[in-house]
Amino acid sequence: MYKVLVTARSVARCQECIDLLRQNGCEVIDGAGDVPRNEQEMLKLIPGMDAVIAGVDEINAPVIVAGKPTLKVISRNGVGYNTVDVQAARENDVTVTLSVGTNNISVCELVFGLLLAVSRNIVRQSEAVRAGGWQRVQGMELYGKTLGVVGTGHIGAEVIKRAHAFGMKTLAFDLYPRTELTGLYGTQYVSLDKLYREADLITLHVPATKDTVGMINQQVLDSMKNSAILINTARGDLVEEAALAAALKAGKIAGYGADTTQEEPPGKDHPFIQLPNVVITPHCGGYTREAVVRSSVTAGEEVLRVLKGETPLFPVK
Ligand SMILES: NC(=O)c1ccc[n+]([C@@H]2O[C@H](COP(=O)([O-])OP(=O)(O)OC[C@H]3O[C@@H](n4cnc5c(N)ncnc54)[C@H](O)[C@@H]3O)[C@@H](O)[C@H]2O)c1
Repeated sequence: MYKVLVTARSVARCQECIDLLRQNGCEVIDGAGDVPRNEQEMLKLIPGMDAVIAGVDEINAPVIVAGKPTLKVISRNGVGYNTVDVQAARENDVTVTLSVGTNNISVCELVFGLLLAVSRNIVRQSEAVRAGGWQRVQGMELYGKTLGVVGTGHIGAEVIKRAHAFGMKTLAFDLYPRTELTGLYGTQYVSLDKLYREADLITLHVPATKDTVGMINQQVLDSMKNSAILINTARGDLVEEAALAAALKAGKIAGYGADTTQEEPPGKDHPFIQLPNVVITPHCGGYTREAVVRSSVTAGEEVLRVLKGETPLFPVK
C-alpha cells in the first residue's frame, strides 16, 4: 500500500480526493497544519512516504532527501512551485507535478462579478442601503459595449465566451492570438494601443513578467476613454497603482475592479480604499468549492499516475 502524505489543507479536507486515493490502494496521512509546514515539520512527516500532496509547505533539499528512498512524487495543489526545490527533486528522481487549469471558470466568473459590480455600482449602493439610504446611482449596461481582453489564455478565453453571451464585442491582445476565438465569438485581435483606446471595459489576463509589470501606466490611462472600466484579476503588479488611483480620482477613467493588489492586503491607507468607484476582493478568484475540489482531485490523480508508472499530465520540467 502506498503512503500519501497530504499537507495541503484544502486537499486534506477534500473527501473526493481522499476517496480517490483510498480506492486506488493508498493510505492517506493527514499532515496539514493551520499554516504551511516548515522544514522542521516536514522533516518529521515525510520519512516513509511515497507521495506528498503539498500546498505552499517548505519542500527543500533536506526534506526531499529525508523522503528517500520511498518518495516518488511531490504533487503541488496549485500552479506555483517556488516552495519546492525542483532541482533537488530532479537529482533525487522525484517527480514534481502541478494542478493546472482548475480555476479558470471560477476566476472568469469573478471577472463578470467585478464588471457588474463596478458598472452597476452594486457595492456602493448596497452599502448606502445598509446605512439607511435609498439613493440610486445610474449604471451602465454591458450589452453592446466593447470589452478589451488583454491575454487570451485559459481565463481570457472563458471571459470572451461569456462576453459574447452578454452581447458584448471583444477586442483582444495576446502574443499568441487564437484564431478560433475570432471564428466563434467575432473577437478581433488588435494592437494594445487600439484596445486601450477603443474598449469600454478592459480586463487583464496576462502573467506578471518583465514585459507586463506596470503595463497600465499614466500614458496608457490617458489613452483610455473617460468612461472606461478596468478589471484586474491577474496580478497587482500589472498596474501602476498610484497613477491609476489618480486617474480614478480625476475621472480620467470611470472605475476599477480588482481581485489583486501589489501588496496583499492593500492596507487601510492604500489610495484605492477611499475611492467610491473601486471594488476590491481579497484574491478570491479561484476560491470556490468547485475549483478547490477540481484542484485537489487533479493533485490526487497526478500522484496516482506517477505511482502507477504512468506519465503525469502536468509535470514540472
Ligand atoms: N485572481 C486569482 O485568483 C487568479 C487565479 C488564477 C490565475 N490568476 C492570474 O490570471 C492570469 C491569467 O491566467 P491564465 O490561467 O489565463 O494564464 P494563461 O497562461 O493560460 O494565459 C496567459 C496568456 O497571456 C499571454 N501573454 C503572456 N505574456 C504576454 C504579453 N507580454 N503580452 C500579451 N500576452 C501575453 C500568453 O500568451 C497567454 O495566452 C495570470 O496572471 C494568473 O496569475 C489569478
